[in-house]
Amino acid sequence: MGAAPKRIVDLVHEHGLKVGALVGNLDHAIKQKEVGVDVLIAQGAEAGGHVGRVGSMVLWPQLVDAMAPIPVLAAGGVGRGRQFVAAMALGAAGAWCGSVWLGTRESDLTPNMKERLFESKSEDAVVSKALTGKNCRILRSNYTEAWDKNEEVKPLTFPLQSILGGVPLRRAERVRRFDYWTYAVGQIVGDMKQETTVRQIFAEMLGEYVEAVENLNSMLED
Ligand SMILES: Cc1cc2nc3c(=O)[nH]c(=O)nc-3n(C[C@H](O)[C@H](O)[C@H](O)COP(=O)(O)O)c2cc1C
Repeated sequence: MGAAPKRIVDLVHEHGLKVGALVGNLDHAIKQKEVGVDVLIAQGAEAGGHVGRVGSMVLWPQLVDAMAPIPVLAAGGVGRGRQFVAAMALGAAGAWCGSVWLGTRESDLTPNMKERLFESKSEDAVVSKALTGKNCRILRSNYTEAWDKNEEVKPLTFPLQSILGGVPLRRAERVRRFDYWTYAVGQIVGDMKQETTVRQIFAEMLGEYVEAVENLNSMLED
């Protein structure tokens, strides 16, 4: 959310480290380039968390072309091998995943929370200001609907809305009202059906990646 001051980026570089920045459109990317970031994470609107309005399919190649030679990682809707292949085909240097980790054994969500994710469809990952006060893709729940449908009471600005939501959301968790619980998650939630592990996701993603590349290569034969 915004470029760091150039002196901070320079300081990080003086320590021999690289700086990455997550962006949702070309204007954001240009600002990050000006302060000297080393890698851009192009995050399409289907992603979980704070999002812009441009979908991954359009955003990724747009930033790859405009920002070269800065490497671009593709984010937003990558949860399986074929999506990873699509990211690479669109010129990305790699992929960056978020939501898919929430359903793993290593994730710190409780079993009830994971269950809420596994029963959700892609359409349940809505863009709402209910959680933080800024447009954020989160799981639709009674809490988000109450904010989103109320014409008179609008969410506070960022970050005050997150502070306001702390108590009621923790209370909903404590009394196990998971119909009020919400969390940042992307449209890929519709493909998350059961608990897995990080290792399993990597293995399946790489397997499907290879299979998809082989299928594409076979199209060039004959
Ligand atoms: C629960 C959650 C928390 C996130 N928090 C941050 C954050 O603090 N900073 C950030 O730059 N991105 C954050 N993101 C966005 C991720 O870094 C990533 O770009 C995004 O999840 C990729 O899209 P996907 O969810 O479709 O995989 C978050 C995403 C999720 C799902």
